[in-house]
Amino acid sequence: MVNRDEIIKKESKYMVPAYARKPIVIYEGKDTVVRDLDGTEYIDCISGISVVNAGHSPERLVKAGSEQLSKLIHCSGLYHNVPQTLLAEKLADLTPSNLTKSFFCNSGAEAVEGGVKIAKKYSVTQGRTGAGVIALEGSFHGRLSLSLTLTGQAKYKHGFGTFANAPGVAHAPMPYCYRCPLEFPDCSTECARRVEDIVKYHTTGDVAAMIVEPILGEGGLVVPPQEYHDLVLKICKEHDILYIADEVQTGFGRTGKMLAIEEFGIKPDIITMAKGLGAGMPIGGYITTDEIANCLESGDHFSTFGGNPVSCAVALENLIYLDDAGLVKNSEKMGGMLMKQLKEIQQSNKYIGEVRGRGLMIGIELVKNTGTKEPAVDETQTVAKNLMKNGVLVGTGGVKKNVIRLQPPLCITEEESQKVLSLLETEFKQL
Ligand SMILES: Cc1ncc(COP(=O)(O)O)c(C=O)c1O
Repeated sequence: MVNRDEIIKKESKYMVPAYARKPIVIYEGKDTVVRDLDGTEYIDCISGISVVNAGHSPERLVKAGSEQLSKLIHCSGLYHNVPQTLLAEKLADLTPSNLTKSFFCNSGAEAVEGGVKIAKKYSVTQGRTGAGVIALEGSFHGRLSLSLTLTGQAKYKHGFGTFANAPGVAHAPMPYCYRCPLEFPDCSTECARRVEDIVKYHTTGDVAAMIVEPILGEGGLVVPPQEYHDLVLKICKEHDILYIADEVQTGFGRTGKMLAIEEFGIKPDIITMAKGLGAGMPIGGYITTDEIANCLESGDHFSTFGGNPVSCAVALENLIYLDDAGLVKNSEKMGGMLMKQLKEIQQSNKYIGEVRGRGLMIGIELVKNTGTKEPAVDETQTVAKNLMKNGVLVGTGGVKKNVIRLQPPLCITEEESQKVLSLLETEFKQL
């Protein structure tokens, strides 16, 4: 059997160096625990970036996938297949009642591009230009051409010429209260009001869609106030702008609700999804209304692998399992417990600027000084590195690169959560 060092060495020889990987080779996983090739175990508190919400390889999902693998692996978009249709039916059941029709692809970026594409087509069929799309500063929507244009973080766009420069895209301010010069609620959610100005001054005035993450994931697990969402929805309605909720990262129990839109009472025209939908199988997609869906004609959009029967069979079982096994409820419960205790730790630690999130989507923003809020970038990396040494994997991120991300599988137990908390507390104390 190959060992860890050999794999890492071979990877640097044979693979495009697109990833800054941590020096472990994950070989197997069960529930919340993953194991390195050398047998070292880790509590996984990042879930393959918010993907394995149901945990690593739960038996029911393995069975559903294995059965489908032996029946039919692929048939392409040329023919009907059973799991795809049943998954679309289930999604219509899970989402607000006006959303009825799904399209499946293979990733979050494709889901976003598909969602914006249909919004533009709908707008054109209404006799408009389909020209404008609004996204948020600090957002993340993927790394393809349009999705990278929508992504409101320049650091991902450097060095690629005009690749992330699709026309018609404008960005509205990030609803990031912790770093806003104005004070909420005295600010009257100025960031939401600014959307109106963006329509007026930064677009042709004809905007097909606005895309919003209900909680900004890669931007630093930033939770906009309820009033923000309410006002943006109102502005979109008044300007005939379709509202796309990008639930790629927040979806499927992550925030303590099946979808984060439930938390904020958001009624979108389109929801984009991926990550937690397939529990690790590559699948993405969007769901929309009958009226919007019906603007597409055959051939307008297609994906050879999209709606693949194996991915769909696992995704369908996953949606049933998340509910049956009480994992969405556990996300709310464990998340609430972790948040409460982290806020207590924050009281006596001057490095913790803010603890925020919903359910098991928790961000801890580290600063060198709570007054100046200078981002503690190196310290964030040190904490993550030391946690890994002690058997816990966490993510790091945020627009300032100073946020520890806790996004474990939703099956995390109280005992595991306490272990993670205690290690985190030790690390924060050592800063
Ligand atoms: C909100 C959101 N949208 C889209 C994407 C892109 O997903 P993918 O990496 O599957 O293309 C991500 C990935 O992190 C995301 O968080």
